[in-house]
Amino acid sequence: MTVSKQTGKEVATIARRSKRSPAEFSMKFTFGTNWKMRNLGRDEAREYVRVVAASLPRLANTRIFILPPVTLIRDMALEAAENRILIGAQNFHWAPEGEFTGEISTALLKQEGAAIVMVGHAERRSLFGESDQVINRKLKRALADGLQVVLCVGDSEPDLAAAKLQETFFRQIGIALDGVAPDASGKLIVAYEPVWAIGEAAKGAPSGEQVTSCVDLIRRALQRAFGGAADEIPVLYGGSVGPGNCRQFVAGTGVNGLFVGRSARDPHRFVLLIQEALSVMEKKTPNAPP
Ligand code: 13P
Repeated sequence: MTVSKQTGKEVATIARRSKRSPAEFSMKFTFGTNWKMRNLGRDEAREYVRVVAASLPRLANTRIFILPPVTLIRDMALEAAENRILIGAQNFHWAPEGEFTGEISTALLKQEGAAIVMVGHAERRSLFGESDQVINRKLKRALADGLQVVLCVGDSEPDLAAAKLQETFFRQIGIALDGVAPDASGKLIVAYEPVWAIGEAAKGAPSGEQVTSCVDLIRRALQRAFGGAADEIPVLYGGSVGPGNCRQFVAGTGVNGLFVGRSARDPHRFVLLIQEALSVMEKKTPNAPP
């Protein structure tokens, strides 16, 4: 691949970020935001990173990732270069390169400074027809290229029977991780996002008990795929999380953090949300992976 025009400083910064080891990211708690197709200027995007970065001294043991639209990755990655915020992409193609009009490769994303990518988001599954098999191919591509990966899984209806829930998570995780070695655990984050609780069209949000039982099934599915190595994988909750309601998702549910859409549009609000969740997780729950 030919590297496009970059200043020496940009090249050095991006190279340094892509060489960070997984251990460097083994934080106790993980919080992420998915900006979806939000229109934001470069200056505002950089300012967002600055605001979140300024709060980091108050957020010990916390890893934060932001998935903006692809054209903002570079600016944000440069802004995040000297701190522990990961910037990444919401989508990419599974092939290394080729005749795939309109698609983007992991190599190009890395060139922009992406350190993390997402696969399996409910909107990609439902609006763009991405199957579990496609998700598996994409996940393997991202891992082969040394990227961290957020794998999203979720149930389709608010009150699915336990057997149906188990079938859903075992299928989604079993196929997504098919052919992936357990030593990839350090590179993976799983986000539990009930399809019915996501975005403006959300029908509501799950109770703490629902989150607990779904996270338990997800952990069992991960253990089935990876054995003991699965314990390293953080499991996040996402879907209609906001300041004021995050306690129900994190108190005793077994999640290791949150994945936020609408309520993280304002960086100050995102930070408040993280602080609120941490105050519950640090005191009351054994959420932290060993
Ligand atoms: P909301 O927080 O807006 O419900 O979106 C969650 C989400 O889809 C994150 O990927």
